[in-house]
Amino acid sequence: MKILVAGGAGYLGCVLIPKLLDRGYEIDVVDLFWFGNHLPRQVRIVHKDIFDLSTDDLKGYEQIIFLAGLSNDPMAEFSPRDNFIFNAAAPAYLGYIAKKSRVRRFVYACSCSVYGYKENELLDEGHPAVCAYPYGIAKVQGEQAAMQLQDGNFSVISLRKGTVSGYSPRMRLDLIVNTMFKTAMRDHTITVNNPSIWRPILAIEDAASAYIRAIEAHQNISGIFNIASGNYTVGEVGDLVRDAIQQHAGFRVNLEIKQIQDFRNYKVNIQKAENVLSFHPQHDVKSIVANLIEHSTRFDDWDNPVYYNLQAFKNLAGLCKEEPRQQMAMASD
Ligand SMILES: NC(=O)c1ccc[n+]([C@@H]2O[C@H](COP(=O)([O-])OP(=O)(O)OC[C@H]3O[C@@H](n4cnc5c(N)ncnc54)[C@H](O)[C@@H]3O)[C@@H](O)[C@H]2O)c1
Repeated sequence: MKILVAGGAGYLGCVLIPKLLDRGYEIDVVDLFWFGNHLPRQVRIVHKDIFDLSTDDLKGYEQIIFLAGLSNDPMAEFSPRDNFIFNAAAPAYLGYIAKKSRVRRFVYACSCSVYGYKENELLDEGHPAVCAYPYGIAKVQGEQAAMQLQDGNFSVISLRKGTVSGYSPRMRLDLIVNTMFKTAMRDHTITVNNPSIWRPILAIEDAASAYIRAIEAHQNISGIFNIASGNYTVGEVGDLVRDAIQQHAGFRVNLEIKQIQDFRNYKVNIQKAENVLSFHPQHDVKSIVANLIEHSTRFDDWDNPVYYNLQAFKNLAGLCKEEPRQQMAMASD
């Protein structure tokens, strides 16, 4: 099966794609390479903006996975304009031309952040996705556009993922467990911004499994699925990361507990993904930390801006004041 992964050079794509190759799939990646190229050599690269693809470019693909866009709140707050273009319009456009090109399935990278701020509720996919910040709004818009396209010949699967963490060859240190890991190793301190806030955490290995389950699901399956390894309070995540590092590294790690107001707070039910996709997470915070420890020598230049999406994005945007979207495509060439 031939699959196109849009945004496949990112953090998640660089873990997912080697697994897809191992299963015998032929993989092409279309990407702007904002964070470099860490993909295996057998992947065919299309160095383009999604908006520069045509229906002809998509002929011959059976499935398309959308992993592109501005992948966190700080990037979306920094450039709401680019957020709505890349996160809402790009999946709408790609899904639309995919269907016209007779692609069979579109898998969309959504986020649990669409749930906003909910206290003491375990949210399933039927719960209204209501939030008031640009990243969450655009991710819902992209999802709605994609879901409208589904029919008997075109399956659409949206994976609402928790915060992904763990090692990737294209590393990010701006994701909760990864950030705590970094400051514990570098400063022997973990800052917990608000211990009572809930977050679904998703090990990157479990995230990759969810995409594999989605592309291998029966053709008549479409739908929205919550995907997480587990729900934790941020305070508990801090304790688990600290304990794992103290045990491994043998030094004491301090916890700095703050009470900063957060606009995201949610925990999700993943039963639908278990029942329909046979998604069964295998990881937890402890095993994510073990995975980070195993690979830590590959990213212990902790302050390298490329590990921080907002910093890397600002650096690209700084190169191109006049027309950020197009110029960023050029700047990343
Ligand atoms: N990482 C997480 O915790 C998380 C959680 C929930 C959802 N998601 C979603 O999953 C997806 C993947 O996340 P990630 O962490 O791998 O992201 P990432 O930021 O590491 O990678 C995104 C990639 O998309 C590319 N890209 C962006 N816009 C493009 C365009 N218009 N055309 C071509 N390429 C483009 C970038 O160059 C980059 O390589 C994103 O859509 C994100 O919103 C991520």
